Amino acid sequence: MTNELLHLNYTLTTIDDAVSRFWAVLGGNKIFAFSGSMGAGKTTFISRLCSYLAVSDAVSSPTFALINEYHFETPGNTDNTIYHMDWYRLRSVDEAVNAGVEDCLNEARKRDKVYCFVEWPENAPELLTGPHLWISIDLVDEGARIMTVGSRK
Ligand SMILES: Nc1ncnc2c1ncn2[C@@H]1O[C@H](COP(=O)(O)OP(=O)(O)OP(=O)(O)O)[C@@H](O)[C@H]1O
Ligand SMILES: [Mg+2]
Repeated sequence: MTNELLHLNYTLTTIDDAVSRFWAVLGGNKIFAFSGSMGAGKTTFISRLCSYLAVSDAVSSPTFALINEYHFETPGNTDNTIYHMDWYRLRSVDEAVNAGVEDCLNEARKRDKVYCFVEWPENAPELLTGPHLWISIDLVDEGARIMTVGSRK
């Protein structure tokens, strides 16, 4: 079941406002699945979100590395972790498990300060078993995108 939390239209000029509105509706979710066609703007949004969180590491597309790891501080916690994954090249759930994808998801489920941001979640939806956010990004035209955020159980 999907419960819609947010629906917004944004451009590269208004993306930071979209990021702060997004971060305000998480409702305790730690696993974010970013769905959208090639070039929809998944990496761009994640990268702006990481800037908003003042991530201390360089953010890049993990297409080849599969999993990037970033860290950021919050008032009560000096070490929050983000696992930024791209499942575009995944061919099977086995391959994902071998690459450590399931471990990252389990860590986010168990530990308070661990988050997973996933691009191309549709390539291994079987792995998204617990609660997570499903974020769809769609092209309006070259200069704008529509984002829909839903929570799934
Ligand atoms: N809200 C927006 N308005 C206009 N252009 C945008 C917006 N968000 C992203 N873009 C542009 O879309 C292009 C593709 O973005 P990005 O690389 O983030 O896509 P992606 O969804 O991660 O693609 P891939 O599936 O290849 O990983 C970039 O040129 C970026 O500047
Ligand atoms: Mg990308």
